[in-house]
Amino acid sequence: MRSVKVFSVLLAMLFALVVAGIAVAGEGPEVITLKAKKGDVTFHHHQHQAKFKCGECHHGPNHSEYKEGMKIQTCDKCHTKDFSNKKLNSVMKAMHTNCKGCHKEHKADGAPTKCSGCHKK
Ligand code: HEC
Ligand code: HEC
Ligand code: HEC
Ligand code: HEC
Repeated sequence: MRSVKVFSVLLAMLFALVVAGIAVAGEGPEVITLKAKKGDVTFHHHQHQAKFKCGECHHGPNHSEYKEGMKIQTCDKCHTKDFSNKKLNSVMKAMHTNCKGCHKEHKADGAPTKCSGCHKK
């Protein structure tokens, strides 16, 4: 009787570890270096995933809402000089809008808003 109880407690602990592991590991690269002449940006992808949903940054074709398991494309697949909306017709514009937009809302939590907070020479 007792060993059954111990076993189920261990099983529950193992399950919790697996779930936590998935949440921490996330998906895609852990760290992404975004090259820029202004200074490369070190983006901690999994650290952001731990706080925010994929759909905060990724969307589908025609700007459709992110769905779990969806194929994720890099921003440069769409946000190029031929992009219809001139405010978003480069990777820089797409990323500045996304990254800086959220960072302004989360300034108090330490999200950098100054150029040098992201661009490191
Ligand atoms: C705070 C923004 C943000 C969040 C949240 C986020 N990502 Fe990303 N992700 C990025 C950026 C930026 C890139 C790099 C895109 C590029 O290079 O054009 C990227 C790249 C990726 C890539 C690699 C794509 C490729 O072909 O190189 C995958 C896969 C990915 N993300 C999956 C996910 C998943 C799954 C989630 C949710 C669990 C998630 N991301 C959450 C911003 C984010
Ligand atoms: C498959 C094509 C495609 C890819 C890949 C893509 N986008 Fe977009 N994105 C769009 C379209 C279409 C819109 C809508 C434009 C409009 O409303 O004028 C859009 C809108 C946006 C907007 C403004 C609206 C919003 O959701 O805030 C931002 C910011 C943005 N994209 C950032 C990104 C970033 C960052 C990446 C890479 C992580 C990315 N996009 C990848 C097609 C794409
Ligand atoms: C949906 C909100 C959100 C988006 C989108 C977002 N961030 Fe952040 N970011 C945060 C918050 C909140 C923090 C501060 C807390 C922390 O450090 O996790 C942060 C911290 C950072 C930091 C400082 C800490 C570190 O990891 O070095 C950098 C650099 C950064 N973000 C880069 C980016 C870049 C580049 C993008 C766009 C590709 C981006 N972020 C998009 C919310 C966001
Ligand atoms: C929240 C993070 C963040 C902040 C703050 C930020 N940037 Fe960026 N910036 C990026 C990212 C991400 C890219 C896209 C890099 C890429 O193309 O892959 C970028 C791209 C650029 C580019 C184009 C790439 C190049 O060759 O340099 C320029 C120019 C630039 N930023 C200037 C600035 C200036 C000036 C400021 C301050 C007013 C600033 N950025 C603030 C994240 C940031």
